[in-house]
Amino acid sequence: MLVAIEGIDGSGKSTVIGMVADALRKEGIGLYVTQEPSSGEIGQLVRRWALQRSVDPHVDALLFAADRLHHYVTEIAPALRRGEVVITERYLESSIAYQGALGVDTEWILEINRHVPWPDLTIVLDVDPGEALRRVAARGGRPDKYEALHVLARAREILARRSLELGYVVVDASREPGAVALDVAEHIRKKLKARRHADA
Ligand code: TYD
Repeated sequence: MLVAIEGIDGSGKSTVIGMVADALRKEGIGLYVTQEPSSGEIGQLVRRWALQRSVDPHVDALLFAADRLHHYVTEIAPALRRGEVVITERYLESSIAYQGALGVDTEWILEINRHVPWPDLTIVLDVDPGEALRRVAARGGRPDKYEALHVLARAREILARRSLELGYVVVDASREPGAVALDVAEHIRKKLKARRHADA
């Protein structure tokens, strides 16, 4: 089962995923936790190059799509074949929200991502962009080019609209991470149970 955790920068994805992974592993669930941009060479190129300068957002979309396909083939698919539950921090909806926020057409993003499967469950951590940027600033370090209020506000809007249209789970991420993690873990358990039921 492939679970994508989405949300704007500062929504708490990494912290929440860490807590969720601890809880689910204690229950004996085999997990593979990963993220995009990936730790592979294309992911590193994206972080080092595309996120640091003003590149046409269509170029970004192509790089993220290349990273995603490579990530899927080399890491996600093998873990799924081993029967593990894969949790990825960011996936396809990050491209639609972020590159979409800079004007890239959703249909084209879907087209260039055609060779990766849709997740079985998408969970969106929703938080106000002002609060999100305060959290990002508190972490320190140089903000990347997408970490600007108007971009995050637009990305959040796109995520919210698509969640409504496509039935994604939206979790209120303005709360402390422990509370958010409880909700996220519960949604994953519920989905796992439903799939086991369907397979039986
Ligand atoms: P992020 O999750 O912030 O990684 P890290 O915490 O390691 O810096 O992702 C980096 C940035 O990449 C983030 O601002 C969102 C952006 N991004 C896209 O614009 N499109 C995508 O498809 C993905 C996966 C990420």
